[in-house]
Amino acid sequence: MNSIMNRRSIRKFTPQPVEREKLIRVLRAAMQAPSAKNRQPWEFIVVTDSDTKAALAGASPYGGFTAGAPCAIVPLAVTGDFPGESPWWCEDLSAAVQNMLLQLEEEGLGGCWIGIWPDRERVENVRKIFGLDSGLTPFCIIACGYKGQERPFEDRFDESRVHWERY
Ligand SMILES: Cc1cc2nc3c(=O)[nH]c(=O)nc-3n(C[C@H](O)[C@H](O)[C@H](O)COP(=O)(O)O)c2cc1C
Repeated sequence: MNSIMNRRSIRKFTPQPVEREKLIRVLRAAMQAPSAKNRQPWEFIVVTDSDTKAALAGASPYGGFTAGAPCAIVPLAVTGDFPGESPWWCEDLSAAVQNMLLQLEEEGLGGCWIGIWPDRERVENVRKIFGLDSGLTPFCIIACGYKGQERPFEDRFDESRVHWERY
């Protein structure tokens, strides 16, 4: 459970670029996630270009630190490919994103989930940056890189939230 327990949101990074093999393993982790009917309704844009990162930093009022990250990954939900959109894509993408955050920790990297979906304005902001049509829904931004801050383990287990057999 090491990466589960040690993972924290990292919002400050060193300038060191992230090796491609590490990013590939992070994306491999994403695509290994469970998805409803195994539809795997995802695509991923990996960004290291400074101008694009700066544009992404402005896509959400809570993601300004993306400009200072060596890398940003934008998971897209393929919402237009199905006869009737999968009602489960939000869950599918969430599972993939959590896998990515855990694999970043495994790789000695850090990252932060910046919420895009379901805020319509943020979704449109990111669509505009990449010229995406309405069949692709930007789900979040993951700013990532080598950690420029240390964040300690926080124990969140709360036994009072556990209900054995009945509530
Ligand atoms: C759906 C979702 C959206 C989030 N959006 C943002 C965001 O826009 N900006 C940000 O700095 N952190 C964002 N976070 C990170 C949370 O603030 C963070 O996970 C939470 O405070 C717990 O801290 P930890 O990740 O260090 O354990 C988001 C997390 C989730 C799951």
